[in-house]
Amino acid sequence: MASRMVLVGCVLLLAALLQGATAVTYTVGDSLGWTTPPGGAIAYSTWANQHTFRVGDNLFFNWTGNHNVAEVSSETDYDNCNQKNVEMTLGSPEVNVPLTTKKDYYYICTVASHCSLGQKVKISVKSASGSPTSSTNSTASSLAVGSFSAVLFSIVIAFLH
Ligand SMILES: *[C@@H]1O[C@H](CO)[C@@H](O)[C@H](O)[C@H]1NC(C)=O
Repeated sequence: MASRMVLVGCVLLLAALLQGATAVTYTVGDSLGWTTPPGGAIAYSTWANQHTFRVGDNLFFNWTGNHNVAEVSSETDYDNCNQKNVEMTLGSPEVNVPLTTKKDYYYICTVASHCSLGQKVKISVKSASGSPTSSTNSTASSLAVGSFSAVLFSIVIAFLH
């Protein structure tokens, strides 16, 4: 009986660790949303510093009014709000942006002088938890984790009966 309890405990621990690897969707700015922040760019740098972003997570940009989300690849362009090398622009609110790579992502708003006024955010993405290498197929790995957890759960149920 004791060994059975230990086994069940181990399986539950493993399942919990795997659950920790599932993707998170972060609403950029939380209740502030994606806007020209009243106090400048510190609003978004403070927000970003409160989270650990990992490969497979998503950013949710939501706004009302005239804004957009543009990605720039260099920190210099980000710092200077240079819009000449924008990689992609998303013009509709309520947009999900997947973080697929372990790197620094730079997002700005290219409307008027919004970027200079602080509507920009730098997101430093770390490896997916539990895997040292970056995963570019987060959906597939989340599904794999989900089904593996289901199998472990079945094993636990089988032992409890
Ligand atoms: C996006 O923001 C609008 C305006 O604040 C809000 O009404 C809407 O519920 C938000 N959407 C989501 C999915 O949070």
